Amino acid sequence: MIMTETKNRLIEEIQEWKKKRNAILLAHNYQLPEIQDIADVLGDSLSLARATLDTSADVIVFCGVHFMAETSAMLNPEKTVLLPDLEAGCSLADSITAEQLRAWKAEHPDAVVVAYVNTTAEVKAESDYCCTSSNAVDIVRSIPEDKEILFLPDMFLGSFVKNQTGRENIHIWMGECHVHAGIAPYQVEEVLTKHPEADLLVHPECGCSTSSMYLKSEGVLPQDKTHILSTGNMLTHSKNSSAEEFIVATEVGIIHQMEKQNPTKRFIAANPEAVCPFMKMITLEKVLAALKENKHVITVPKEIAERAKLSIDRMVSIG
Ligand code: 13P
Ligand code: SF4
Repeated sequence: MIMTETKNRLIEEIQEWKKKRNAILLAHNYQLPEIQDIADVLGDSLSLARATLDTSADVIVFCGVHFMAETSAMLNPEKTVLLPDLEAGCSLADSITAEQLRAWKAEHPDAVVVAYVNTTAEVKAESDYCCTSSNAVDIVRSIPEDKEILFLPDMFLGSFVKNQTGRENIHIWMGECHVHAGIAPYQVEEVLTKHPEADLLVHPECGCSTSSMYLKSEGVLPQDKTHILSTGNMLTHSKNSSAEEFIVATEVGIIHQMEKQNPTKRFIAANPEAVCPFMKMITLEKVLAALKENKHVITVPKEIAERAKLSIDRMVSIG
């Protein structure tokens, strides 16, 4: 934890450098509280990607992980996109390579490929559609029903989409995010027993999402209190719901924002250890260094960006 004085000085310097460079600071909902508090735009993967299209800034400082900055760089080739720490990766994006995807496509030559945004630019270049947790269902619904689909790389999000759309012709890659997969059904049940009146908010990447969906459909979990949502939609729900308590089944960083927006409500983590080490790599010191030293500039080879662009454009325009 940094001292308040040091923190305030860092924030002041960041604001000065932002002005100097005509920069905007985007932050994902899982970022450290002090990063969330200075963000110009805070949001889920889809809203952040869309925000990069609406800004007149020359420099985008992406406080998130590598694939997010890479996606912004492909959407905005004329802007400078900075990721304050190059090590901020994603275990889910690492669960499939372009080579593995090419081999999978060769087994299903007529299939349409839907890739979650948590993938590398090379994987996106091999895909037809890109999606995020907030529009995955809409994107799959937009694809003609007789078309076979390869959905990758998250198996829990894949099963959620399959269940919501009722499609049988979806093949799902068996990848997972180690943070979300670690939120287990028994943990949710334990917390629910202690807080039976709470709304349950589950991210579709979670290890408990499939069982939550099943238990909801069986009436074991209350239909009107169980919600499978992207991080952005979790924030909207917690604002609009009349519930006093919420069980949060996703990365715990989002609770900072939930508490800030709803000071009288209570938010309980389904698994308090669900912390993404990659998201927490971005600090105030690194944001300042990124602005001062123009690092780390994220670029994507033109040939890959051109091939990935159609799938990314579909992602930002659907849902
Ligand atoms: P969303 O914020 O789009 O729901 O995604 C969650 C996530 O895990 C990002 O890596
Ligand atoms: Fe990747 Fe999981 Fe971290 Fe999101 S929470 S960035 S999916 S490792």
